[in-house]
Amino acid sequence: MNQNYIILIISIISFFIILWIAKNRKFETTGSVSDAYDTWTNDRILEKLWGEHIHLGYYHNQKKLGDFREAKATFVHELVKWSGLDKLPKGSRVLDVGCGIGGSSRILAEDYGFNVIGITISAEQVKRARELTKSSLNCTFQQMDAMNLKFEDGEFDGIWSVEAGPHMPDKQKYADEMLRVLRPGGYLAVADWNSRDLTLKAPNIIEKMVLKQLLEQWAHPSFSSINSFQKNLSNSSFVGSQVETDDWTKETLPSWWESILEGARRPKIFLSLGLSSLFKSFREIPTILLMNWAFGNGLMQFGVFRCRG
Ligand SMILES: C[S@@+](CC[C@H](N)C(=O)[O-])C[C@H]1O[C@@H](n2cnc3c(N)ncnc32)[C@H](O)[C@@H]1O
Repeated sequence: MNQNYIILIISIISFFIILWIAKNRKFETTGSVSDAYDTWTNDRILEKLWGEHIHLGYYHNQKKLGDFREAKATFVHELVKWSGLDKLPKGSRVLDVGCGIGGSSRILAEDYGFNVIGITISAEQVKRARELTKSSLNCTFQQMDAMNLKFEDGEFDGIWSVEAGPHMPDKQKYADEMLRVLRPGGYLAVADWNSRDLTLKAPNIIEKMVLKQLLEQWAHPSFSSINSFQKNLSNSSFVGSQVETDDWTKETLPSWWESILEGARRPKIFLSLGLSSLFKSFREIPTILLMNWAFGNGLMQFGVFRCRG
């Protein structure tokens, strides 16, 4: 049977499963975010399917897609280049805010020679990130809230934060804290899932329903728009330059389908993790498809942000 038909059937089944049994993961406090990531980390499904990065891939050529995991590493290198982080010398101190299980942190330490600290709200992610990191790397992990960083002002030469912003209930505090711990002249690189600017074009009824699902299924309190988060960064008293943005929706869009296809490409994973992992994976498919639709139809945008401390 053609792979596209398999995906269609999987999608329809999963839509029904989610309607029947899935409890949403609505954001209540940062505790609901850490609970969700603790569970995702311990069941190992995401890691086995998508590797060590919980972010989208970057595709130079949308017609000839390469390996999904390679595209994620490419994303890291593209963001390093775009943000200017590659101008920092080896040994520079870089903070990875919302580091997941440390995929980006390890690349920043290994390929760029940075001294990296990754922080995440999830204790299980810290544990797993430590297990995955060679002791020879200058790369450590701590459990910490991004909106209350336990670091001194100006401690870091670089700040890196990828796809963590939608989980932050206070976007201004998130921006302020990252810029507070960045030294004057240091480099900040942020990448995020943003809604389009809904003050310029209000969502219609279908879009409202889609946004509600995208928020409630993955513990997101709200999405910034590219404009509104640019303002959050620009409003910070610690910002040292103009905040520049770009929209990488086109370059990252194939990732949504690819993240589903990885399941079809690696079916043995479900055997090794047990049948329940198959149901848990089906449960994510509707949200992934809605994300694909929202990013593909201008409701969501993949924003990147850079500025100096
Ligand atoms: C989509 S994952 C991205 C992970 C990682 N940046 C990557 O690219 O692989 C979002 C990350 O943000 C973290 N996060 C969410 N809310 C947080 C908070 N308030 N403080 C610190 N980390 C947070 C989650 O624990 C998770 O590691």
